[in-house]
Amino acid sequence: MTTIIRTPAEWPSVLLARAAALKDHPAMGFDDPSAALDAAVAAGAFEGLRRAVRDLGPAGTIATVATAGLRGRGGAGYPTAAKWRAAAAHGAPRYVVAHGYGADPGSLTDRALIEADPFGVVEGLAIAAIAVGATDAIVAVRAGDVEAVRRLEGVVAAAEEAGFLGEDVLGSGHDVNVLVRPVQGAYMLGEETVLLKALEGRRGQPEQRPPYPAERGLFGMPTVVQNVQTLAAVPWIVVNGAPAWAGIGSARATGTILVQVRGPERAGVAEVPLGTPLREVIALGGQPPRRHSLKAVVIGGPSGGLVPPELLDTPYDFDALRAVGAHIGSGSVIAADDRACIVDLARLLTAFCSTEACGKTIPCRIGTRRLVEIAARITDGRPRPTDLQLLADLSADMTDSALCDHERLATLPLTSGMRYFRSELDDHLLRSSCPAGVCRPIAVGAAL
Ligand SMILES: Cc1cc2nc3c(=O)[nH]c(=O)nc-3n(C[C@H](O)[C@H](O)[C@H](O)COP(=O)(O)O)c2cc1C
Ligand code: SF4
Repeated sequence: MTTIIRTPAEWPSVLLARAAALKDHPAMGFDDPSAALDAAVAAGAFEGLRRAVRDLGPAGTIATVATAGLRGRGGAGYPTAAKWRAAAAHGAPRYVVAHGYGADPGSLTDRALIEADPFGVVEGLAIAAIAVGATDAIVAVRAGDVEAVRRLEGVVAAAEEAGFLGEDVLGSGHDVNVLVRPVQGAYMLGEETVLLKALEGRRGQPEQRPPYPAERGLFGMPTVVQNVQTLAAVPWIVVNGAPAWAGIGSARATGTILVQVRGPERAGVAEVPLGTPLREVIALGGQPPRRHSLKAVVIGGPSGGLVPPELLDTPYDFDALRAVGAHIGSGSVIAADDRACIVDLARLLTAFCSTEACGKTIPCRIGTRRLVEIAARITDGRPRPTDLQLLADLSADMTDSALCDHERLATLPLTSGMRYFRSELDDHLLRSSCPAGVCRPIAVGAAL
């Protein structure tokens, strides 16, 4: 099971609250999914679905999600209600897909949520399906997350039995058939158009958007693809009201989000209110060891930004992180101390992005490789005089020409590294020196 990091008692908990309340309940081993469902229902599960059906109806549900200001947790922060409205405006059949693949191997947020509270994910999926008029819904989950798959399958079967899914959900006249689909693939399987192709049984490479999946998605029909966290927030919003959700977090980034923290003392998943200063998020991973200090925070996963300690007051939210050259991405927040070489770190992250690029479009396929080559020249101590300019120009061209977000984001480690750690870069470029002592053969730093 994934490690959950405890947060300060005054921080609100939404996504992991029921799991915490039921953690010692004997049924939560999921050996008997019906017993687990009974326990969860007694703790409030499926009350949101009941209210959405009984009190709100599809239009009222979408309006509530809009008023709450819920934005997608899969990385881009797109307004959830806008996606639902777009799908509902296009012809049936429609689909809803709960995205629980968790593409970043270093972030277990989605797996942690599914293991902790699969009820919230399935309930949110059912509410979304009824709101947009979809009768078929899919939970896509990483096949290797065996426990998550087992729990989801158990909950879906038990919820059908109890009348929360299947024909005529809670006597509403709406049918919602939920299929759990274990999927396995590379990093790019996380991109929504690739995931949809995989669900169709086809080889996956990203498609140009628009049209967005909400208009033309699974089998060419309107499809809402929503991260599992986004869906799990919906029942809570319906039960507690949009103002309660909007009261958590910051004005343009409401509610809580799961973060994968990796610090010197501990690593695990924590639920934090959006807008929490980065300083408090990174502190959940503990303090650097004696005689060492924090040098950078890697935010957003392999295509993440490198943010210096001077920016630790930045709120952890979609727009504020984008403004400093990072992004929420996979929810990963990693502390790097002064033993890390920023240039080498950026090279490693870019190399991952290059390897994982699907190869469909030339600017990304070749561009990411050229970025890695330039970075490697610098870490190897054989830079060319034009390399910095080349990095900047190439990154700008790639950002402009990107077919999918991967290409745009793959430039972030190096562009943020150049922006905030210029003196360390100059040490490599002008003085053939790596202050951290990481890059050989030029290493002359403190770690030697
Ligand atoms: C390379 C790449 C990987 C992605 N991986 C994931 C992922 O693992 N999980 C996810 O929910 N979204 C992922 N996304 C974002 C999805 O394409 C999509 O925007 C998201 O699932 C929509 O749901 P949301 O609105 O709830 O965020 C990825 C995007 C890219 C470009
Ligand atoms: S931008 Fe990169 S990852 Fe995206 S489709 Fe093109 S080659 Fe594939």
